[in-house]
Amino acid sequence: MASYDVIVIGSGPGGYVCAIRCAQLGLKTACVEGRETLGGTCLNVGCIPSKALLHATEMLHETEENFAKMGLKVLRPDVDWKQMLAYKQETIDGNTKGIEFLFKKNKIDWLKGWGSIPEPGKVKVGDEVHEAKNIIVATGSESSSLPGVEVDEKTVVTSTGALELGKIPAKLVVIGAGVIGLELGSVYNRLGSEVTVIEYLDVVTPGMDGEVQKTFQRILKKQGMSFVMGAAVQKVEKTKGGAKVTYKLKKNDKEETVEADTVLVATGRKPYTDGLGLDALGVATTDRGQVKTDAHYATSVKGIYAIGDCIAGPMLAHKAEDEGMAVAEIIAGQAGHVNYGVIPGVIYTHPEVASVGKTEEQLKEEGRAYKAGKFMFMGNGRAKANHAAEGFVKILADKETDRILGAHIIGPMAGDLIHEICVGMEFGAAAEDIARTCHAHPTYSEAVREAALACGDGPIHS
Ligand code: NAI
Repeated sequence: MASYDVIVIGSGPGGYVCAIRCAQLGLKTACVEGRETLGGTCLNVGCIPSKALLHATEMLHETEENFAKMGLKVLRPDVDWKQMLAYKQETIDGNTKGIEFLFKKNKIDWLKGWGSIPEPGKVKVGDEVHEAKNIIVATGSESSSLPGVEVDEKTVVTSTGALELGKIPAKLVVIGAGVIGLELGSVYNRLGSEVTVIEYLDVVTPGMDGEVQKTFQRILKKQGMSFVMGAAVQKVEKTKGGAKVTYKLKKNDKEETVEADTVLVATGRKPYTDGLGLDALGVATTDRGQVKTDAHYATSVKGIYAIGDCIAGPMLAHKAEDEGMAVAEIIAGQAGHVNYGVIPGVIYTHPEVASVGKTEEQLKEEGRAYKAGKFMFMGNGRAKANHAAEGFVKILADKETDRILGAHIIGPMAGDLIHEICVGMEFGAAAEDIARTCHAHPTYSEAVREAALACGDGPIHS
């Protein structure tokens, strides 16, 4: 039995970052992980592998769409699916091994196996029980399916199965037009699958800015994806060659069906805390299975904390990372803090979609007086040169004070551009602060400055 200041359960972005921060702050730290490799869902079967497939297929798309226009004559690239999956695996391995290295460097013990908490102050891994002054639950989330839909990870898959299909499906039905559905739908659309997305709501990516939602769906349609909106999936039945999806249209209550080789269920995720023994300990949870925490990530049981997807808030790796750092600092006696008003959200399609802060819909609902400064990438020289001029940057600022309240970008490198706004918001910037900052020419970032100018006297290039 070993004794630690902190034992973190789970080595996803929340858990491993937390463990490293704890070690940096001088706390004797261990991290429990039952998978063969560190990194959790994000590195093993989520963010990282999906980004590898998105990158490879974006290159394919670029070759097919734009190479000839730029005077580059190539034959249509052949897709070697096995090799693409091998590249994806190499990407995963490089990253998971990287965390193993960081653990060694920071003298963090990896307790291999699935952990449980038999009593406060103790963590059991396999047959061994370890002592810990502080226990941090960072066990993440799992895909949540629908009633009437049985996932086998071969024909009817979640994101996990969709990242390692035996072959590229001729027809793919995606249930849910959320982040996972549209990212992975894009991958297979580019690889030549006929992709149909069935969504319960009338808009894609619920919660995003309405103008972005409309533009995003229009662009995806243009890229070849089909959408059935306002449709509730009732059941999925296996057929000889694939599966049949039955859905009910909200507008007329009519049931319709569509057949596919593969069905991707992307209807959300739910907290994962199985086997920890939280119920027996009396750790309070919500009716949605989230572990209840106070502002310092403390659960209802002393010495047990929780962070990331298994608590309230957006299920995002970077939100979990920030909570991991904050709780480490709190345990070390510092003032750890996460600014939940400035957490960016990014969808890694092509073009990318990124947002931070309030949407126009939220501001209207709050009755807040605001102004919207918008700039189309059509007016950005770099975007035009790169055949990437679809989309826009929109900055929302307080009508009176000019303080930035939110920003929404659909366009090239949106996921990187958004951080200029995040930093600005963290510093309480006004749109004018961004507008008066010299931006290098020619860059995509100039579109952000132009949107900021649009909050004032107007942009230059439109
Ligand atoms: P989501 O919550 O983003 O989207 C689920 C969609 O399914 C919603 O639009 C919902 O209306 C729809 N839906 C639910 N039931 C339905 C039914 N019966 N029939 C038709 N449509 C139905 O969930 P998603 O995409 O599975 O992602 C899960 C989590 O993972 C999210 O919190 C997301 O933020 C996170 N994630 C983030 C990524 C990123 O930051 N790039 C990438 C992948 C996942």
